[in-house]
Amino acid sequence: MIHMSEGASTNRFFHFAAKGDDDGEHYTSCLAIVRYAMAAAVTLLAIAVIALVIHAVLRSEDVRLSVNNGFIGADNLWERTAVPNVGSGNENQPISISKAVEPAIGSSADPGDDLEPASAWQAEHEPTISPYIGGLPKECLLGCPGEDHHRPAQVTLKKAKATSLRVILIAKNPGGRTRIVCDHITVSLFDVQAPYGLIGRLELDNFTVQPQTTITLQKRLKDANAGYIWDNYPGAYRFSVMVQVNASVTSFPLKKTQRTVLQSYKCQPVTVGLMDEELIYATDQVDCRP
Ligand SMILES: *[C@@H]1O[C@H](CO)[C@@H](O)[C@H](O)[C@H]1NC(C)=O
Ligand SMILES: *[C@@H]1O[C@H](CO)[C@@H](O)[C@H](O)[C@H]1NC(C)=O
Repeated sequence: MIHMSEGASTNRFFHFAAKGDDDGEHYTSCLAIVRYAMAAAVTLLAIAVIALVIHAVLRSEDVRLSVNNGFIGADNLWERTAVPNVGSGNENQPISISKAVEPAIGSSADPGDDLEPASAWQAEHEPTISPYIGGLPKECLLGCPGEDHHRPAQVTLKKAKATSLRVILIAKNPGGRTRIVCDHITVSLFDVQAPYGLIGRLELDNFTVQPQTTITLQKRLKDANAGYIWDNYPGAYRFSVMVQVNASVTSFPLKKTQRTVLQSYKCQPVTVGLMDEELIYATDQVDCRP
């Protein structure tokens, strides 16, 4: 084109036409590039969307775990032995063998006379749980003034022979796309205060949660670490723990595919306490987070 316009340099029309033609071609090639680029972008976008959809379809589903009431009930956390009042002023009075002499266990079945009315506990309840609220007040170990005379005057506490905890977990499958199978499940309870020891560990049986259903799992942790509880929470009626649930979680996104993920969930704050404390300290279910 340039060649041609040079040859007809006096012809302004040609010259202009040639110039105009040159611009047009330039414009066309720009448009083509834009078109290709757009086509490429659309293709990439389509591929990205397809990839996202495939990923969503094949995504492994997660189970939602929580601790029922955020509370783990204990049969006993320590033992209490009651002895008759020997410091009542009458040293010569023979020690009478009575019901009060028998060792009493600091259990939910026998909360004893040392418990204050529930309303008093409620008033003391604070979100940040102090482990010693509910423990025996020291000054009352030798008997508190104005209390019933028949109740034992002196109480000694000691480590529990065994501590059994009732663990109730709730597993939910809100997704509704596939059933979820959990196996190799361990539940560990850790103290949330120094020295952050292991309170106990148990294994749960495999379970399956069908789509959009909820199941409740309950198991006893029979051999909780009574020594640790005694060393760190003597006389306490409750304390806080972190519950760690490890499980291998399998979902079935398509008929023949299955996805297994090793998960570790943390549930807190969870209260471990004597059974009758549950009425007072139960919270909403405490969710466990991966
Ligand atoms: C639990 O699942 C594991 C792994 O899938 C399997 O090896 C084991 O036999 C199952 N146990 C029970 C009691 O079903
Ligand atoms: C649970 O999983 C955590 C994190 O992966 C790990 O540190 C811990 O040792 C596991 N506990 C058990 C009992 O397998």
